Amino acid sequence: MRLRSIELEVPDPEAAVGFLASTWGLLDAGSRNGVSYLRGTEALPYVVSLAKADTRAIAAVTFSGAASEVAQARSRASLAGARVGPMRAFDEPGGGEGFVLEGPEGQVFRLVCDRDRVEKLPADRDRPLQVTHVVINARDREACTRFLIEVLGFRLSDRTGFMNFIRCDDVHHAIAYAQSGISSLNHIAFEMEDFDAVMRGIGRLKDAGLAPAWGPGRHGPGNNVFGYFVTPFGATVEYTAEVQRVGDDYKVGGPEDWKWPPNRMDHWGVSGRDSAALSEAEKQFRFRKPVM
Ligand SMILES: [Fe+2]
Repeated sequence: MRLRSIELEVPDPEAAVGFLASTWGLLDAGSRNGVSYLRGTEALPYVVSLAKADTRAIAAVTFSGAASEVAQARSRASLAGARVGPMRAFDEPGGGEGFVLEGPEGQVFRLVCDRDRVEKLPADRDRPLQVTHVVINARDREACTRFLIEVLGFRLSDRTGFMNFIRCDDVHHAIAYAQSGISSLNHIAFEMEDFDAVMRGIGRLKDAGLAPAWGPGRHGPGNNVFGYFVTPFGATVEYTAEVQRVGDDYKVGGPEDWKWPPNRMDHWGVSGRDSAALSEAEKQFRFRKPVM
């Protein structure tokens, strides 16, 4: 199973698509039924979709896997008493069959087996490869974490004083839950080819008049380099690279393993952080009621 895409709703999808394509570097993956799709250079049909709605919302976070993995996840989720939709076809790039699953705080997850393969595009350091993780704010991060582990068979990679990092393959985290008073989108991370591509991205955003809300820096858990931006359409996005790959032998870290010295929020200690802008952005995207 792997993280594939995030489906968003915004009042002005054209503006959001414009930003994500022209400035952020994603590529047009077509549109259908009024929904716009954007992709990276990896062999995935799309990584972000944008639909028009009155209020901003996350419609879903989507994982893709083999048909057997999707079927197994569905029976496991049903057995666990989770709210699970029927198996159905999805009319979107990649097509395929899957189901919708509701998390403990109304999170909407989709598990899909893509039908149509798409070709990987030539690597381009000015374009994201794919979405590598989504961080979700949660009122009860432990309960939300247990759900992904017990219902979907995901693995805990690390816990800090305020975040849990969860993986579904060898990437250190696909989902992280940040402890919060609300359940909402914290940020979406786009994997870039390398460290240099992250820095070039930060420069490109600077040219477009956007300073990083946090970064550049190097994270503790996952050891990835990062630069965060609050987009004009309200969501926080991250350019990242060098995300740690882990195996079954990875030792789960706890809060004691991830303590920073005073006045430090990353390995390098050079990053500034606009906490006010980031926390305002965290209020913008809640999960909308799932369409099962
Ligand atoms: Fe991140």
